[in-house]
Amino acid sequence: MSILTKHKAIETNATLLLVLSFLVVSIGGLVQIVPLFYLENTIEEVEGMRPYSPLELAGRDIYIREGCYVCHSQMIRPMRDEVERYGHYSLAAESMYDHPFQWGSKRTGPDLARVGGRYSDDWHIDHLRNPKSVVPESIMPPYGFLERTLIDGEYIGDLMQTHAIVGVPYTEEMLAEARADFRAQADPDSDFDGLLERYPGAQVRNFDNAPGISEADALIAYLQMLGTLVDFSTFTPDASR
Ligand code: HEC
Repeated sequence: MSILTKHKAIETNATLLLVLSFLVVSIGGLVQIVPLFYLENTIEEVEGMRPYSPLELAGRDIYIREGCYVCHSQMIRPMRDEVERYGHYSLAAESMYDHPFQWGSKRTGPDLARVGGRYSDDWHIDHLRNPKSVVPESIMPPYGFLERTLIDGEYIGDLMQTHAIVGVPYTEEMLAEARADFRAQADPDSDFDGLLERYPGAQVRNFDNAPGISEADALIAYLQMLGTLVDFSTFTPDASR
């Protein structure tokens, strides 16, 4: 019997075809899925990544509330045009503490995964107040009310606790100091040593340059952190994974 006639036997017998198809698909599936059970972590660990500081987390919540993700992505694809425009392609580890992730699905405005440090705080304030004042052709809506809305981090501990439930490694100490750290990050005259120990690389300053902690402070703290935690001058991808 040639291989073709053997194949005919399968193709003319619906039950046999079904059983064999099922077998083939199962093997394919198992080969892909089973190794995952033996990996402790499917995300390559990358130095520098840490859970968001309380102020950054509050800013991230405002980012989600205002629907910034509708117009902005936070995911640089590993293609030359993207890497040349936005910087190193995004790593899985860079969104490991994001619940939910902010990759977005459409770019009406540019990708923001590495916007941290690209502009000054003043630029962000002007841009949020009136995007056309700094980018005349901008169609981004104004968000001036953010700098007029003061926040006190009353529920920031609860928010962090919720993130801890879904796997963000906030420690007891981080939860206990949540509100103090929230305030310290926006106040350069505060005692922020503990904050920096808990959240290495956190930027401490009065982001909106106005008294009190506003939603703009939190949002700009978040934006200025994006893409700055991993040092890409020393990062080399782990090829063994
Ligand atoms: C309706 C779509 C839209 C929404 C919603 C939107 N943006 Fe934008 N954004 C844009 C466009 C378009 C640009 C490019 C022109 C400009 O810089 O204003 C932009 C630019 C930016 C830039 C500058 C990026 C760069 O690399 O030059 C930042 C930062 C930014 N947006 C932040 C935000 C934040 C934060 C929010 C939510 C509070 C937001 N955007 C909501 C459309 C939007």
